[in-house]
Amino acid sequence: MSATADLAAKLEQLRAAIGHHDYRYYVLDDPEISDAEYDRLFRELVDLESANPELITPDSPTQRVGGAPHAGFATVEHVIPMLSLDNVFTLDELHDFGRRLNARLDQDHSITFSAEPKLDGMAISIRYEAGLLAVAATRGDGRTGEDVTHNVRTIGAVPLRLIGKDFPDILEVRGEVFMPRAGFAELNQRAIENGEKAFANPRNAAAGSLRQLDPKVAASRPLSIFVYGTGIVTGVKLPDRHSQMLLQLAEWGFRICPETSVVTGIDGCIEYYERLRTLREALPYEIDGVVYKVDDYALQAKLGFVARAPRWAIAHKFPAQEQLTTVRAIDWQVGRTGAITPVARLEPVAVGGVVVANATLHNLDELERKDVRVGDTVSIRRAGDVIPEVVNVLLDQRPPGTVAAHLPDNCPVCGSAVSRPEGEAIARCSGGLYCMAQRKESLKHFVSRRALDIEGLGSKLIDQLVDKEIVRTPADLFDSSRVNVASLASLERMAAKSAEKLIHAIERSRSVSLGRFLYAIGIREVGEATAQNLADYFGNLAALRDAAIDPSALQVVPDVGPVVAQHIATFFGQRHNCEVLDRLAGSGGALQIIESDGRRSDVSADFLGKIFVVTGTLSSLSRDQAKDEIRRRGGKAAGSVSRQTDYLVCGDNPGSKLEKAEQLGVTVLDEAAFTALLRRQA
Ligand code: IVH
Repeated sequence: MSATADLAAKLEQLRAAIGHHDYRYYVLDDPEISDAEYDRLFRELVDLESANPELITPDSPTQRVGGAPHAGFATVEHVIPMLSLDNVFTLDELHDFGRRLNARLDQDHSITFSAEPKLDGMAISIRYEAGLLAVAATRGDGRTGEDVTHNVRTIGAVPLRLIGKDFPDILEVRGEVFMPRAGFAELNQRAIENGEKAFANPRNAAAGSLRQLDPKVAASRPLSIFVYGTGIVTGVKLPDRHSQMLLQLAEWGFRICPETSVVTGIDGCIEYYERLRTLREALPYEIDGVVYKVDDYALQAKLGFVARAPRWAIAHKFPAQEQLTTVRAIDWQVGRTGAITPVARLEPVAVGGVVVANATLHNLDELERKDVRVGDTVSIRRAGDVIPEVVNVLLDQRPPGTVAAHLPDNCPVCGSAVSRPEGEAIARCSGGLYCMAQRKESLKHFVSRRALDIEGLGSKLIDQLVDKEIVRTPADLFDSSRVNVASLASLERMAAKSAEKLIHAIERSRSVSLGRFLYAIGIREVGEATAQNLADYFGNLAALRDAAIDPSALQVVPDVGPVVAQHIATFFGQRHNCEVLDRLAGSGGALQIIESDGRRSDVSADFLGKIFVVTGTLSSLSRDQAKDEIRRRGGKAAGSVSRQTDYLVCGDNPGSKLEKAEQLGVTVLDEAAFTALLRRQA
């Protein structure tokens, strides 16, 4: 073999290897080699190619970002038009769709559908000739689109050449280019830091990135793709079903949405819709509904098209998550730790099926940045079970004479001075537990599900108990001269029966693990995980109280740095806190605190009634075994992460559940922590 042939073979081998590792990384999300090893391979290819530029091929991974910026976009004709989808919003409309299908097909049995997320990005058609990426185009008007090959080539999940040998002469794949949420957040963060304009949403960011003339811009954006169909395909026999075609596309190296599934009948569609709706916020990318496609190509052909959309598919949209309304007032809410938060009181509006009348403005900086004023028209967003927020103000609709809201000098609840340390976004009421608002919020936290978990003691009841001065501190809850059936029954919306139930719930809460108790008492910046760490380390409350005399002694506990240590010391240093603690947990106190050193037999409190979600790969046991162990100890094993989740048990390669758990502040246990917990309560 000549030296040139040797070199060509070496180059080919490197390109194939890098192509394979791109596929493992971007498409399968399952890399086989480290980033450093990948970089070494890539470097080697770049070096060889720069020494021998005549041997560079267009499908070389070094050529993803090729050439100078384009002057404009060429147009590309779609030989098979890129269709759009008809929408349904309600179950009635969906049933109509099902009936129309059966009527057209003159049958009455259940149809099999491919059910897929409706991805919120930009539709793209990519043409491969002899296995090599040739042209990529936007949808445009469906018949002609814009040539965006230079940008689509930069997307790591788009193969530059197809895998295997049995691929079509010509293959057009169609799919959605999108920007994953995490990448979008990072991109916007960077934009804000550089004083640039942020993108409104991941969809705009994806579309904007594809419509760049300079491929370097697209290359710097975290874009990905899921393919969901085909245009022209020649030179191979096609499968009989859409779902099989998707599997075939995956074999050729494309990324297919993992949530895609095959369902039976409209009932199957509805189940899928509900599942995806629950999953929606946890997905690492945005979707705005689901799509059902008749799976059988022969039936698709019988059904045909109307105008711009196929009869064999329908998009089932989720209710809009954003709505316009007007601001009636801007109030200041005082939280448990005195933090003062601006809240917009709104003309009530239904957003995503829920009536919203208040939206948080987060903090003063946010309020100033968004410049929300009374009388403004604002866009409100509800994301899953997150508190509704003001997205932006429609400035062109601002009435004349509005004024910006200002932080009050005094707490709107107790009148104490409001302080805002230099450079901090958070202003606080200095009233401490003198402030009714802080007292109410502390109590609400104390009884909340992850704390004492007193069922039936909701926010409205606590407001009344505090307003009527029946309860001033958590210890008062257990004082039967204050809280009893008679005093409860005197409250609004409380009958004797529910008062009795509540008394039972309070009684049941008297036995509580030390970890929960430490979380419940609401020390600043001590969340569940830190509370548990403190409990594990000190074993009992007295030991912690002794240690808290010296904040530096607390810093041996995992998660506890100087700031948290100081908060803990301050908390235990306050006389009124000590009085409450003594009444609750001192000798003869109201509560039985289950200590945390595993010496006691009744410590299964860590599992009993707790909701666990297991994700990723555990090395010492399977996910199912893990779930069995959880259930054996009285815990619940759930499938998806929500606000109700107590713990996420997280193995290797966890995926989106971890992200969701982190967003919701769910305690994450790694395998070591989980198995330690199992051992402790075997
Ligand atoms: S199929 C003939 N599948 O929705 C069917 N489209 O309104 C044409 N979209 O332009 C499209 N997710 O951008 C299909 N799983 C999915 C989709 C999807 C998102 C978008 C696509 C298209 C629009 C149609």
